[in-house]
Amino acid sequence: MTGALLHVQGLKVEFKVYEGVLKVLNGVQMVVHEGERMGLVGEAGCGKTTTMKCVLRILPSPPGKITAGQILFHGRDVLKMTFHQVQRVRGRGIAMIFQDPTAALNPVFTIGDQLMSVIKYGSRDSLGAREVRSRAVAVLHEVQLPDPERILTNYPIQLSGGMRQRVCIAMALSTEPELLIADEPTTSLDVTIQDQILRLLNALVERRSTSVIFITHSLGVVREMADRVYVMYAGSIIESAAKEELFSNPLHPYTQGLMRAVPKLTGGGIAEGIPGRIPDYLNPPAGCRFQPRCPHAWARCVNEVPTLHEVGQGHEVACFRFQEQ
Ligand SMILES: Nc1ncnc2c1ncn2[C@@H]1O[C@H](COP(=O)(O)OP(=O)(O)OP(=O)(O)O)[C@@H](O)[C@H]1O
Ligand code: SF4
Ligand SMILES: [Mg+2]
Repeated sequence: MTGALLHVQGLKVEFKVYEGVLKVLNGVQMVVHEGERMGLVGEAGCGKTTTMKCVLRILPSPPGKITAGQILFHGRDVLKMTFHQVQRVRGRGIAMIFQDPTAALNPVFTIGDQLMSVIKYGSRDSLGAREVRSRAVAVLHEVQLPDPERILTNYPIQLSGGMRQRVCIAMALSTEPELLIADEPTTSLDVTIQDQILRLLNALVERRSTSVIFITHSLGVVREMADRVYVMYAGSIIESAAKEELFSNPLHPYTQGLMRAVPKLTGGGIAEGIPGRIPDYLNPPAGCRFQPRCPHAWARCVNEVPTLHEVGQGHEVACFRFQEQ
């Protein structure tokens, strides 16, 4: 597709474990255009982080193995790049903020060492030591950390969880990436801090017109952060649409279940949830992986795997109910 910043096609990933082979990603399809803020939503274990690790070529291998697919960034397949080409994509092209800021920072180096090394090696221009330092101070200031000069001298353990995540955001944005992947960046933080961090992130990406993939379990967060939504279930994207369209007209039975699972704050309704659980990747169901939980399943759903089909403008769904026989 032309004009796409990132185009993931038919991505399949397996993990070899003691019990056998986990067939996790089952042909992930996803497109992110320049300037787009994309929300990726799906329950725990559906393969959101695994997909993004493939995009950045940081999937641990073994046990992970990419068995099919392409990941095109500006039309070039990341999976075929040399180590040096991938290094250039990371940072300037794509940067990622992880779920757990503690794990993302190295405890034995100061914040300054870590941030300045990202700026030094990730920036487009070659910078002198003084310039690197002043950019580090500026970016800490931008994420609203008090006293940036002092923070440069601190070790991660000297900062709170919320401050550490602000440092990680500063690090990810310091090289002005074209695409920012934020992988549930607030789940490890307490609720009041979560809201502050989301608002900060939103303001920063808007100011810079950075493209974003925002990963979350929460449809409420998607509503705040995304223009377009991808819904993932058991290793595949099962629906995608512009945010307003997805919320007003969810088509896939899983997306409809997710919407019903959101606690209703008004009207006194009780969240129904989706009966059943995500399938076992050692032995996933044949055909549509949602079939054991789907109230509409019929014979075709057991025999064939549904792929994404466009059903309206920019609205795609992987379900046989919306395809010609
Ligand atoms: N290193 C690994 N070794 C073995 N299996 C793995 C590994 N990483 C991921 N998996 C498998 O892949 C599945 C998807 O994991 P992934 O972390 O991508 O899910 P996720 O959608 O990001 O979940 P969460 O919302 O909990 O972060 C897991 O359920 C697990 O079975
Ligand atoms: S393809 Fe079949 S089993 Fe899968 S979601 Fe659609 S109706 Fe349900
Ligand atoms: Mg994850």
